[in-house]
Amino acid sequence: MARLGLDFGTSNTGAGVMAGGRPFVIPLEDGASTVPTAIFLDFAAKRMVYGSAAADAMRAGDEGRFMRALKSVLGTPLAREERNFLGQRTTLIAVIAGFLAEMRDRAQNFTGMTFDTALSGRPVRFHSDSDTRDAKAEADLRMAYDLAGFRDVAFLPEPQAAALAVAATGRVLVVDIGGGTSDFTLCDRANSQTQVLANRGLRLGGTDFDRVLSLAHAMPLLGHGAQIGAELGSASHAAPRALFHDLASWEKIAFVYDAALLREVRRWIRLAQQPVLFERLAEVLEAHLGHDIAYAVEAGKIAANGTGAGRIALDVVERGLGADLGRAALTTALCAHADAIGAEAVQTLADASVAPDTVDHVVYVGGSSLLGVVRQAIGARLPDAKAQDAAVFTAVVEGLAIAAE
Ligand SMILES: Nc1ncnc2c1ncn2[C@@H]1O[C@H](COP(=O)(O)OP(=O)(O)OP(=O)(O)O)[C@@H](O)[C@H]1O
Ligand SMILES: [Mg+2]
Repeated sequence: MARLGLDFGTSNTGAGVMAGGRPFVIPLEDGASTVPTAIFLDFAAKRMVYGSAAADAMRAGDEGRFMRALKSVLGTPLAREERNFLGQRTTLIAVIAGFLAEMRDRAQNFTGMTFDTALSGRPVRFHSDSDTRDAKAEADLRMAYDLAGFRDVAFLPEPQAAALAVAATGRVLVVDIGGGTSDFTLCDRANSQTQVLANRGLRLGGTDFDRVLSLAHAMPLLGHGAQIGAELGSASHAAPRALFHDLASWEKIAFVYDAALLREVRRWIRLAQQPVLFERLAEVLEAHLGHDIAYAVEAGKIAANGTGAGRIALDVVERGLGADLGRAALTTALCAHADAIGAEAVQTLADASVAPDTVDHVVYVGGSSLLGVVRQAIGARLPDAKAQDAAVFTAVVEGLAIAAE
């Protein structure tokens, strides 16, 4: 019996264990070190599909329900709401449990070991604005591990786990910007000893960046901000914001497909000044294209950050539809969020009464730490610290493997 290190991420999940005195990241699919935190309920086959296969099924248009970023629902009412999935009353906590059990089974199959307990990562704060919701989120995740059949689960803050796995020594600020949260651990590292000085976290990450970009560049093509006339008279009003907000939020997309809502959107087509926008929206709701749009926004973000010339390509909605996204537009859309993250980094030092010029290294972890606008916001506040890259997608799980032993 052994303890599995599990990094259940908003976007990607990894599992690790010690092997020969070193952390080993267990390939959970096709030799890849992480698996997308994605689930597809296949209605025809009446089964759950996990990881890349789930995304493939969704893209292929198979009949079912696709979910990603379910970590974000932990601690919210959505997590415990009972709904009908594959003919059974169940909750999203139970769906997450299915995912965790599958990851354990894959880890067991690969290693030939038996994992009956887990050391799970958790963000420093699932919810940074409410202690109650934050505690509830951990309780929800604990319940998911329990339902998945783990005898016991312990939690370690994700950036603190990463701090155990990075090479930097001296005074180190680990900055983990993931899909759902931004997490910070300030520590002193020497002779493979790590002394934690402060942990801090903010509920803000790549999925929030995607939402901002989607609302600014994709949703307007579907009627966000457009005017709808009244049945009688000449008054008009903007289309309700909530639907666009949900369609732009990874964790909510699966729950916007609703017959009554579709009828309402059809009414807007009749009353709109630009019916074509709402015709597209109706098509998105009818053909369940919300996740295709989210993936297009995410790809546009990554391309704009990389080459400086991205595009949010929405051909799946209508041939040729889309919006170019350059680096300047990316920076404009994300600079407020990046500033909030930079301020949080500084606050982590203040929590430990440490001056910025005493920090030797800033170590970047997490997919969203690859964003230039985020690095700039942090680098500008810690000009004397050397920036270092860790294994962006696996430092947390490596640290969990180390701590699990
Ligand atoms: N090259 C890139 N440039 C910018 N963003 C990227 C890049 N690659 C991945 N991302 C973003 O990184 C995020 C995923 O990062 P990561 O896998 O570290 O998150 P996670 O661990 O699943 O989430 P969390 O730790 O917040 O629960 C996504 O929002 C993704 O869009
Ligand atoms: Mg992470």
